[in-house]
Amino acid sequence: MISPNLVLKSITFTFLVSLMTLGFGAPVFAEDLSDNEVCLDCHADAEREPPSDPTRPQVHNPAGGFFVEDHADFSCIDCHDYIEDLEHEETAPGNEVDCLNCHDEVPVKE
Ligand code: HEC
Ligand code: HEC
Ligand code: HEC
Repeated sequence: MISPNLVLKSITFTFLVSLMTLGFGAPVFAEDLSDNEVCLDCHADAEREPPSDPTRPQVHNPAGGFFVEDHADFSCIDCHDYIEDLEHEETAPGNEVDCLNCHDEVPVKE
């Protein structure tokens, strides 16, 4: 008799394989970039560096989440609007989030 556990395992395996095929094989099924979970798949345990301008408040909290609670209500791409697809390994670094997209003035550290 096949154990239910084994059946579960092979279902999971098949599911994972189809996920991989969808993710990497078929760009037709584009990922929803506004889904933060998609981003966090790769960026969850990234180092959270402070901004290059020391007078600007840091947005991400290195301990996880955001320093300002309101920022957690947004999609990653509301701020990182230069991310247009998941192939941004080369093109993303060096870009900066423009605070003025939402703020009247660039917030400064107190
Ligand atoms: C398949 C993995 C993967 C996914 C999914 C992914 N990224 Fe990235 N991202 C990378 C890699 C690799 C780099 C380049 C190395 C680095 O800076 O972390 C990068 C770089 C970046 C950078 C620049 C970091 C810097 O150092 O300046 C930003 C911002 C970013 N990604 C945002 C996002 C957002 C927003 C999403 C979701 C829409 C996302 N990423 C989804 C892999 C991924
Ligand atoms: C309110 C705007 C805002 C939102 C929302 C936001 N970011 Fe950022 N992000 C920034 C800013 C500003 C920086 C520059 C460093 C800082 O101030 O924390 C940054 C830096 C980064 C970096 C560069 C390296 C690092 O880790 O410090 C990555 C990667 C990144 N963000 C990914 C994401 C992902 C993934 C999400 C969604 C879960 C997200 N960001 C949501 C504003 C935002
Ligand atoms: C996608 C929209 C969005 C972007 C982009 C954004 N913020 Fe915000 N931020 C908000 C909202 C909404 C609030 C809460 C309402 C308010 O205080 O204006 C907020 C509040 C804040 C606060 C606390 C209140 C204050 O004004 O002092 C700080 C600090 C802050 N943001 C810093 C930043 C910095 C620094 C950047 C750019 C690196 C940035 N934000 C980019 C949406 C955004």
